[in-house]
Amino acid sequence: MARVQAFNDPTVAEAARCVAAGQPVAVPTETVYGLAADATNPAAVAAVYAAKGRPSFNPLIVHVPDLAAAQRIGRFDALAQRLAAAFWPGPLTIVVPLREDAGIAALATAGLDTVALRVPAHRAMQAVLAASGKPLAAPSANPSGRISPTSAAHVAAGLGDRVALILDDGPTTAGIESTIVALTDGAVLLLRPGPITAEALSAALGVRVDTVAVTDDAAPSAPGQLTSHYAPTKPVRLNATSFAEDEFAIGFGPVAGTVTLSAQGNLVEAAARLFDLLHQADASDLSRIAIAPIPDDGLGQAINDRLRRAAA
Ligand code: TXA
Ligand code: MG
Repeated sequence: MARVQAFNDPTVAEAARCVAAGQPVAVPTETVYGLAADATNPAAVAAVYAAKGRPSFNPLIVHVPDLAAAQRIGRFDALAQRLAAAFWPGPLTIVVPLREDAGIAALATAGLDTVALRVPAHRAMQAVLAASGKPLAAPSANPSGRISPTSAAHVAAGLGDRVALILDDGPTTAGIESTIVALTDGAVLLLRPGPITAEALSAALGVRVDTVAVTDDAAPSAPGQLTSHYAPTKPVRLNATSFAEDEFAIGFGPVAGTVTLSAQGNLVEAAARLFDLLHQADASDLSRIAIAPIPDDGLGQAINDRLRRAAA
């Protein structure tokens, strides 16, 4: 079983060591417990998806200690800054354009050019952010398809030994996930209702806030919603065991390409490299993309889900 440790200075230091080693740790926020990993480390982010058993790659929320740290990762226009000033630290996630030099793993944003950022108001998550010195990608710390955990016991019951360390700082106070607002093209869109209401957002901004489809992984994805996923612009061929000259060849395991998702056939490594290689393929001079077969177990399911969408 996972080790549940009470929140204190030594356990925060241990959580920071796990983060530095690329291991996800469960940490409470004011909304729900999150499964936190170094957002700049692709393998650590892949380990989060593996622990949750997510059959697809949803972009994750990146937690940071303050607005200054958020502005090193995303571009905040005047509206975004006003939102941050009004509600951070707190249960509000703001989706803004991603800075190209932010160093965030492409897997954390699922290859998108936007990023979801949040400054949490909980002492435990703030302490792990300070001790690790890293932005932390953290989805709710539950297995995919199950309800979000509001106590360390929930996390232990759901994720068990799939998480190295659970920091216990009692039950969370908000109990539901953060409100998500997107500010990516001048409009203010409520992507997920939460503790901060649309009325509170409108009042703080002095503009109308439009509600769009709920983006949580519990809800079916609606066409046209902002999380619509990154897809290459070129034709994609799957299950390729040999490659044509005009194809950007992405290998895996025994099938060698020009580049490879994982020469060893390691699915965590493959997940960590997936979006970077798709972007590389898209940017190359070659007109088509071909990808070796990926086994459909564990993280392979999420990889194949993404590849099928890319090929569709
Ligand atoms: O309260 C919370 O927000 C908790 C705690 C741990 O902070 N976290 C959480 O994360 O609920 P998660 O992964 O369960 O939900 C993240 C949501 C997903 O619905 C995802 O689609 C959306 O955020 N999201 C992330 N990046 C996005 C982006 N660039 N554009 C639109 N939606 C995004
Ligand atoms: Mg969740």
